[in-house]
Amino acid sequence: MARVRTGVLISGRGSNLQALLDAAASQDFPAEIVCVLSNRPGAGGLARAEAAGVTALTVDHKGFETREAFEDALHTELEHQGVELVCLAGFMRLLTPGFVNRWTGRMINIHPSLLPSFKGVDTHQRALDAGVKLTGASVHFVSAEMDAGPIIGQAAIPVLPGDNAEALAARVLGAEHQLYPECLRQVASGEARLVDGRVTLGHGAAPDARLVNPPARN
Ligand code: GAR
Repeated sequence: MARVRTGVLISGRGSNLQALLDAAASQDFPAEIVCVLSNRPGAGGLARAEAAGVTALTVDHKGFETREAFEDALHTELEHQGVELVCLAGFMRLLTPGFVNRWTGRMINIHPSLLPSFKGVDTHQRALDAGVKLTGASVHFVSAEMDAGPIIGQAAIPVLPGDNAEALAARVLGAEHQLYPECLRQVASGEARLVDGRVTLGHGAAPDARLVNPPARN
């Protein structure tokens, strides 16, 4: 089976990228990571890509007059690399509808909240401020509206007494690393299908799986 040629866009340390690279290191994985593009020179994730033998490139947004010119350069590079599917992994630039529409149904993102709650930045602090007892991460298809595309998968974790934004972010991140490769697997294999603006999963949680906070005491 031909593996889906996948490009990953990053801006920073690339720990989610690493989870995707690790999963895709297996020839059985339905996606192959063919290139990693960063909008920030020196992003930690670039070294991770190089260590995995994957083409690592910087397209510095500061070198372009307009958002559109930057995105044209990104698009050209993705096409040049033969990319069929794009994963955003800590890519911190807003994308215009023009770019998003060119990749409709072929671009996915991970966001550190249980969408549709806490779209945008500072998700963990806002979750703490809201007093939610469960939070987590979501992987979704990218649509023109920020953090609003069809949800592919979610991971939930409890908010613990004494949590601050850093502690919560670290535990959510661990869940992200588990969630993102499985979502990419399902999208690349065609198991996860986009039907009428919603995603049908090929393989989901057992019907009795639940995370309750506070848990019942016996
Ligand atoms: C991750 O927590 C990811 O969910 C978040 O940035 C972090 C990147 O970490 N993305 C967003 O907030 C996008 N709105 P990483 O570079 O170690 O993968």
